[in-house]
Amino acid sequence: MINKLQIHQLRNLSQAVLDLAECNLLIGENGSGKTSLLEAVFLLSRGRSFRHHESKRYISYHQSSCTIWATTSEQQQSASLAIQKKIDTAGKSDTLLRFNEQPVASQSVLSLHLPVLLIDPVGMNLLDEGSASRRQLLDWLAFHMKPEFYQHWLHYQRLLKQRNSLLKNPAINQNISQLAAWDKQLSIYAKTLHECREEVFYQWIECFDEMIARLLPAYHNKLYLQYLAGFDTEHNLLDILNKRIKQDIELGYTRIGAHRADVAVMLKIQHQNGQKIREQATHVLSRGEKKLLITALRLSQLQLICHAVAQGRVMLDNPPIVLIDDIDAELDAAAVSILLDTVLSLPCQVIISSLNNAIHDEILLKINQLNNTGDNNTNKQYNQSNGQNVSENQQKSYHMFHVKQGEFALMYAD
Ligand SMILES: Nc1ncnc2c1ncn2[C@@H]1O[C@H](COP(=O)(O)OP(=O)(O)O)[C@@H](O)[C@H]1O
Ligand SMILES: [Mg+2]
Repeated sequence: MINKLQIHQLRNLSQAVLDLAECNLLIGENGSGKTSLLEAVFLLSRGRSFRHHESKRYISYHQSSCTIWATTSEQQQSASLAIQKKIDTAGKSDTLLRFNEQPVASQSVLSLHLPVLLIDPVGMNLLDEGSASRRQLLDWLAFHMKPEFYQHWLHYQRLLKQRNSLLKNPAINQNISQLAAWDKQLSIYAKTLHECREEVFYQWIECFDEMIARLLPAYHNKLYLQYLAGFDTEHNLLDILNKRIKQDIELGYTRIGAHRADVAVMLKIQHQNGQKIREQATHVLSRGEKKLLITALRLSQLQLICHAVAQGRVMLDNPPIVLIDDIDAELDAAAVSILLDTVLSLPCQVIISSLNNAIHDEILLKINQLNNTGDNNTNKQYNQSNGQNVSENQQKSYHMFHVKQGEFALMYAD
């Protein structure tokens, strides 16, 4: 977990220093800086913001850089992480990363040490957007659970970029043979990406079913996930690319491949006449139900990763830090309660933001229940499967901060 977090010149946080607990609540008015703090933690882990891809948007006005530092501790081991985003006068951006005071070249060092999972209001549109955000959801799992995934993914992206620029080249028809070399490699990486994704997908759907039973019981055994590889995996991608080379040249990009993978959320509907049909969930569910469904997608990923970390099945050092922005803005009270029960019962650090003071009492109550009785249902289920004993769990520490114009005041510590 992060013990100490320092943020310099990110949006309205000119200089923030916070001592964090395992569970943290940020309360403040609109525009006070709550989302900016979550953005800072996300940026440190992923190297990009969830709000804007250009660093000039989140570096404080009239400044040329922003920096985030964190010290973490896990089983008496401590580490330090830092990221700095800079823009020069020409608008060119640069990133500097450090781990334990040493410069590092790859963001993956920080991502693996400090994985984060974000639940925020914008993410609630996941079902209605294009496939990219759902693919990222699956790839986040694959990245953390399959050590080989990331390198293969990088190779695939590089090859795809080269292939696409060749396709756009006006002289492509004279250079078709050049494509063959890229395509062979591309199809090899497409296969391994598909295998990694498929493997984590099958683990994920079990946890997803459990979460649907809790968050949307009326849809249990009716909602299900479907993994789409982006190409017909019965065939070698090389053959598929060969067959449709003319279409790809016309389009100027590669239409089919592992970069088009998706996760569809499907719903089984039984009509009165007994006929069963399958529909995309997004066409049927209400807006409120979709939010619960998306919460179930995220929480089931969290549960899966936590199980895997506890069993030593992943190369992750630590379970993810959970960032929940505007917790009660989108979800009803019952869903907030299940969300809190789930994240508090898992061995994750959590940072929650809310406009509303009321959530403080609810969190306190839940933490006390968990700490005192240790027989929360979620805890039992979780610990049965990872073999740990609830009563051996440490007490969860809790801090509540008031945020005002980019300043954080600790109001409660337990
Ligand atoms: N690049 C920037 N530099 C300085 N302030 C910014 C920048 N971008 C946004 N802001 C301001 O930061 C404030 C905090 O925003 P935010 O963290 O989203 O607030 P909250 O989540 O508490 O509602 C807003 O008032 C916004 O106007
Ligand atoms: Mg906000």
